[in-house]
Amino acid sequence: MLKMCDILDENDKTLRQVSEEVTFPLSKVDQKNIDLMLEYLRNSQIEELSEKYKLRPGMGLSAVQLGVLKRYFVVVYEYEEGKFEEYILVNPKIISNSTEEIYVEAGEGCLSVNRYVEGIVPRYARVTLEGYDRDGNKIHVRAREELAIAFQHELDHLNGILFYDKIDKNNPFKNKDKMRAI
Ligand code: NI
Repeated sequence: MLKMCDILDENDKTLRQVSEEVTFPLSKVDQKNIDLMLEYLRNSQIEELSEKYKLRPGMGLSAVQLGVLKRYFVVVYEYEEGKFEEYILVNPKIISNSTEEIYVEAGEGCLSVNRYVEGIVPRYARVTLEGYDRDGNKIHVRAREELAIAFQHELDHLNGILFYDKIDKNNPFKNKDKMRAI
């Protein structure tokens, strides 16, 4: 089981590297990593377990956050109270996006960034991703709102980008009126 200490902190330079495409079949280690990442996210979103194991709640994790420079991530999305959808994307890319942009009003978070960072992280309101599942089947996933943000956040991790890189340094709330807060 993963604990907070297994997740790289923002100061770790590995997080700044670009992850490499994965070839199939996935190795046993990668399969195991995917299971561990899903388990962490599930547990972290269940209050009783997050308290018990001291897990910061999170929606997404990328392999690089475990120090593995490979292009895959997982997202666990609570679409209804107590009901979770799990997404695994290998070698993902965005194939289409809305022109409309949104941002998380309360501020975006990341399991590698253990602090609050003020400012707007512009994100597409809707995206379609193409990628592969863990067995190497090609998949398309459409997402909107919070889930769309989670996918864009994780995809950035695969390119060495952290969410606060996208906040304007001089004016953290730049273009606020051009985007919708969620
Ligand atoms: Ni993150």
